[in-house]
Amino acid sequence: MDRFFIRGGKKLSGSIRVHGAKNAVLPLLAASILTDDPVVLTDVPDLKDIRAMMEILEKLGCRCTFGDGTVQVRSHTLQNGDMPEKLCKQIRSSVFLLGPLLSRLRNAQVPYPGGCEIGLRPIDLHLKGLKTLGVEIEESGGKIFCDGRNMHAGDVYLDYPSVGATENVMMASVLLQGVTTIHNAAREPEILDLQRFINKMGGSVKGAGTQVIRIEGVEKLHGITYHPIPDRIVAGTLLSAAAITGGDILLKGARSGDMVPVIAKLREMGCDVRRDDKGLALRAPQKLHAVGEIQTQPHPGFPTDMQSQMVSLCTLAEGCSLVTENVFENRFTHVGDLNAMGAKIRISGRTAIIRGVGSLAGGHVTARDLRGGAALVLAALAAKGVSVVDRVEYIDRGYEKMEEMLLTLGADVMRIQ
Ligand code: UD1
Repeated sequence: MDRFFIRGGKKLSGSIRVHGAKNAVLPLLAASILTDDPVVLTDVPDLKDIRAMMEILEKLGCRCTFGDGTVQVRSHTLQNGDMPEKLCKQIRSSVFLLGPLLSRLRNAQVPYPGGCEIGLRPIDLHLKGLKTLGVEIEESGGKIFCDGRNMHAGDVYLDYPSVGATENVMMASVLLQGVTTIHNAAREPEILDLQRFINKMGGSVKGAGTQVIRIEGVEKLHGITYHPIPDRIVAGTLLSAAAITGGDILLKGARSGDMVPVIAKLREMGCDVRRDDKGLALRAPQKLHAVGEIQTQPHPGFPTDMQSQMVSLCTLAEGCSLVTENVFENRFTHVGDLNAMGAKIRISGRTAIIRGVGSLAGGHVTARDLRGGAALVLAALAAKGVSVVDRVEYIDRGYEKMEEMLLTLGADVMRIQ
């Protein structure tokens, strides 16, 4: 298992380009099977979850290639909708395939997804949405059997604006005759990207980015080459790395419009964040200020995927910060390790109460989930002395070669295999 050795105290500086968004690419890979034609995705990060998704597609009969950041999916050979259990348990995003498989084959079987590091993560909203479209669903032997022979367009109301459920219903309805409407839809930028992708393939989807999405069924979609949006969470993590080390960096190509809440909080902490035609730049203050409060919420609220990183920043900010996690129940797994490095954080229910300290000390810490692991790297970059971050495989799920990005920006970091 890989680990990072990090000597803290280097101010990050310089510029870097951010890769395509994992949370956009995974549903786009699923949506690629909505057509028989080849689909090409560019700027794809080489991440374990993306490789696993491609492997699932191959098991279903598709042909996939991946090289130099470009993935090609050919699904004219798609044979069956029975998803492989072991791989599906590894990546939760396999559930995105339900919608497109039902569209193409009118049936799909998926093993019941278990919980994961950050919480229970049920899929009841996905299934409820599909049922409204006439899918018959049976659960037996730990598997979910979906029969889409009687599928029809419909009016779907989501009890919560779930990102995954919104994407699944969008993909299930693109080829259904008539108009499907999703009410209380998620508004994340990745949903807009999926709309753009489907429309470029010849689909007719409107309203992504608002709470009501309208999908007018078309008969057929065609192949395309598509460039997904840059990863707003990787961008936010790198800005945070500059902020916590007192640095000054430029992120080329980052989209500030997708990052409004994160930028607002970084500014509240005293960072100078500027957008120009080259990208997004951050200059850290001498000393970070505490944030009054952060509440994670569905977009355009503060993203749960940036909560852990902000907790790290708050440990070194002057004053007391409150960070509340409202989306997932188990997202403070990094707090014990931060406290071992000298932070002063107390958890009360879903809220972390963080009293800023003057400095952190290097320590031996362990990543327990993707963003919590990234948060520990941030703390190590700012800490005095050397830190070891174990179980880097968690971090690798969302950041392509994080150590290389940080090295480019002047950090002292090494991966030991
Ligand atoms: C979530 C984030 C998304 C992020 C992604 C990757 C939110 C609202 N969503 O999306 O921004 O990109 O993680 O880390 O912040 N839920 C149910 N039943 C369901 C589906 C979801 O109860 O069928 C609950 C979840 O347990 C969770 C909440 O709804 O508490 C949000 O879930 P959802 O948006 O579906 O999660 P992801 O699609 O994974």
